[in-house]
Amino acid sequence: MKAIKIHGSSSSSFRFLSKLIFIIITITFITYIFRSFSSTNVADFTIESSPNNNLTQNIIRPSSIPTNVTEIICKKKTKKKTTQLDHLVFAIASSSKVWTRRQNYIKLWWKPDKMKGYVWLDEHIKNQTSDHSLLPTLKISSNTSEFKDQYNNDESAVRIARVVSETFRLGYNDDDDVRWFVMGDDDTFLVTDNLIRVLRKYDHNQFYYIGGSSETHLQNIIFGYNTAFGGGGFAISYPLAKALAEMQDICMKRYNNLFTSDHRIQACMAEIGVPLTREVGFHQVDVLGNVYGILAAHPVAPLVSLHHLDLVQPIFPNVTQLGSLKILKLAMELDSAGLAQQSICYDTTRNWTISVSWGYTVQIQRGIISARMMEMPVRTFFNWYKSNEQNEFSFNTRSFVKNSCQTPFVHMFSHGRYNSSTNQTFTKYEKFPNEKTRCKWRMANPDRITEAHVTKKRDPHLWDNKAPRRNCCRVLPSEQQHILVVDVGGCRPGEIVERNALA
Ligand SMILES: *[C@@H]1O[C@H](CO)[C@@H](O)[C@H](O)[C@H]1NC(C)=O
Ligand SMILES: *[C@@H]1O[C@H](CO)[C@@H](O)[C@H](O)[C@H]1NC(C)=O
Ligand SMILES: *[C@@H]1O[C@H](CO)[C@@H](O)[C@H](O)[C@H]1NC(C)=O
Ligand SMILES: *[C@@H]1O[C@H](CO)[C@@H](O)[C@H](O)[C@H]1NC(C)=O
Ligand SMILES: *[C@@H]1O[C@H](CO)[C@@H](O)[C@H](O)[C@H]1NC(C)=O
Ligand SMILES: *[C@@H]1O[C@H](CO)[C@@H](O)[C@H](O)[C@H]1NC(C)=O
Ligand SMILES: *[C@@H]1O[C@H](CO)[C@@H](O)[C@H](O)[C@H]1NC(C)=O
Ligand SMILES: *[C@@H]1O[C@H](CO)[C@@H](O)[C@H](O)[C@H]1NC(C)=O
Repeated sequence: MKAIKIHGSSSSSFRFLSKLIFIIITITFITYIFRSFSSTNVADFTIESSPNNNLTQNIIRPSSIPTNVTEIICKKKTKKKTTQLDHLVFAIASSSKVWTRRQNYIKLWWKPDKMKGYVWLDEHIKNQTSDHSLLPTLKISSNTSEFKDQYNNDESAVRIARVVSETFRLGYNDDDDVRWFVMGDDDTFLVTDNLIRVLRKYDHNQFYYIGGSSETHLQNIIFGYNTAFGGGGFAISYPLAKALAEMQDICMKRYNNLFTSDHRIQACMAEIGVPLTREVGFHQVDVLGNVYGILAAHPVAPLVSLHHLDLVQPIFPNVTQLGSLKILKLAMELDSAGLAQQSICYDTTRNWTISVSWGYTVQIQRGIISARMMEMPVRTFFNWYKSNEQNEFSFNTRSFVKNSCQTPFVHMFSHGRYNSSTNQTFTKYEKFPNEKTRCKWRMANPDRITEAHVTKKRDPHLWDNKAPRRNCCRVLPSEQQHILVVDVGGCRPGEIVERNALA
C-alpha cells in the first residue's frame, strides 16, 4: 500500500522507506540463505518449482515452505512412474477388404484389457466377426477426398497417414495420461513388452519420432533414411502427436506427390524439424523369401516388431505364418526380453561353432567361425526388388558358406517352459532335416544331434539403462549323445567369444 505513495512523497520519507525495505529484504535474504544451508533440498525445490517469477513472492516464500521433504519427494516420484502399456494408444491402419483375414495377426498380440487403441478402416464391414472384444475398437477414417489432386488418385496413402492425428483427435489429452501414440499395420506382429522397454529410454514429454528403416537400401533412398517405415510400427510422443495433429492436414496437401503414407508423415516431421530416432528392433521386413537369416542373427536390441507376414515364408517350417507366430509367442511369453537374442560359443571337444537365437533357433556348424561372422545375417532372403546382392541391403549380410562341411545344422524352437526349482527357462529346439552334404573333414558330425536344449535365466531388466551386450553361451556336458545342451546368460567377467580357444 505504501509503495503507491512513494512517487508523490517527500525525499525523507522515501529514504526511510527504502531503508525499511532494504532491511526487510536483507533479513529475509539471510533467513533464506540460512535455511538453504540447513535444509538444502527444501529451499532448492521450492525456488525451482515456483512457476511465478515474482521477486516479492520468492523472497517471502521461504517462511511458508513446507518442511516435510518426504512428502514433496513422494509427490514428484508418483508423477514420474515408468511407462506402462496403458500409457500407449495404438492406431492400426487397415482396410475393410483385408481386415477379416488380417485381424488374426492382431489377435495374437492384442491384450484387450490392458491396451487401448483403434483400427482404422476405409468403410464399414458388413460381415462382423463375433469376437470383437478381443480386438481394438473399429473406426472409419474420415473422408479424404479434399486431399485428392490430379497427380494422385490413391486416397489410402492420405487416409493411413492421417491415422495418428485422427486418433489424437478422438479426445486424448494430458489427463488421460497418454505418453505415446503407436502406429502399426494390420500385418504387424508386435512384442509389446519390448516396445515398452524401448520407449522407456525416451522422455515422452519431448518431441520423439521412433521407429525403423527398411532392410532394402533402395527403399530408404527413395522414401528416406529419416522415415519410420510404418509397417514395422513407430511411436510418436504425446506432444509431437499434438503438434502433428495441428498441422498435418495442411502439411499433407503440400506433399500430395509423395507415394506412401510413411513418406508423407516424414515430410511433416521434417517441417516440424524432428528427425527419426532409429531403433533396430522395429522390423519393416522389406524382404522376400525366408527371414531366417535376420532372426537367427538379430541385432543386440529388443525385438519389437515383424511386418509383411503374408509376403515372406512362414518363419517356422511346416506351419502357416499364423501357426509360426503362435510358436514364437510361446517364447515371447516365457522371456520377451531375451526373444531372438543371439549368443555364440564353441563346443571345444568337437570343434563346432554354436549360435543360439533364443526362442527361435540353434545352429551347429563344423569348425571355428568368428563372432564377427556369426553375428552377420546369412542372406536367406531377397531384397524388396528380388535381388540378393550384399550391397542391396541397409545392413551387413553374408552369403551361404561355400564349403559344404560348414553347412549349418539348423534346430528350430518347439517347446519351452519355466523351471521353478532352477529358476530358469528350458527351451527345446528340434532338428530341421538337412540335405545330405558330403564332408571329408575328420571331425564329429553334427548330423547326429537331433535336439538342442537351452537353459537360461530370465532377465526382464536386460535392457533397462544398460549398454547393449550380446549374451554368452556355454556348451554343457550332455548325458545323451543326440542332445546338445547349452546354457545362455549374461557374460561372466572376462568372458568373450574366443576364436583361438581351441588352439
Ligand atoms: C507479486 O506477488 C505479490 C504478493 O503475492 C502480489 O501482490 C503481486 O500482484 C504479484 N505481482 C505479479 C506481477 O504477479
Ligand atoms: C511427511 O509426509 C509423509 C508422506 O505424506 C508422511 O508419511 C510423514 O508422516 C510426514 N512427516 C511429518 C513429520 O509430517
Ligand atoms: C463371414 O465371413 C466368414 C469368413 O470370411 C465366413 O466364413 C462367414 O460365412 C461369413 N458370414 C456371413 C454371415 O456372411
Ligand atoms: C467424400 O466427399 C466427397 C465430396 O465431399 C463425396 O463426393 C464423396 O462421395 C465422399 N466419399 C465418401 C466415401 O463418403
Ligand atoms: C527342473 O530342473 C531340475 C534340475 O535340473 C530337473 O531335475 C527337473 O526335471 C526340471 N523340471 C522341469 C519341470 O523341467
Ligand atoms: C515337415 O514335414 C515334412 C513332411 O511332412 C517332414 O518330413 C519333416 O520332418 C517336417 N519338418 C519338421 C521340422 O517338422
Ligand atoms: C580341432 O581343431 C584343431 C585345429 O583347428 C585340431 O588340432 C584338433 O585336432 C581338432 N579337434 C577335433 C576333435 O576335431
Ligand atoms: C529368479 O531369477 C530372477 C532373475 O532372473 C530373480 O530376479 C529372482 O529373484 C529369482 N527367483 C528366485 C525364486 O530365485
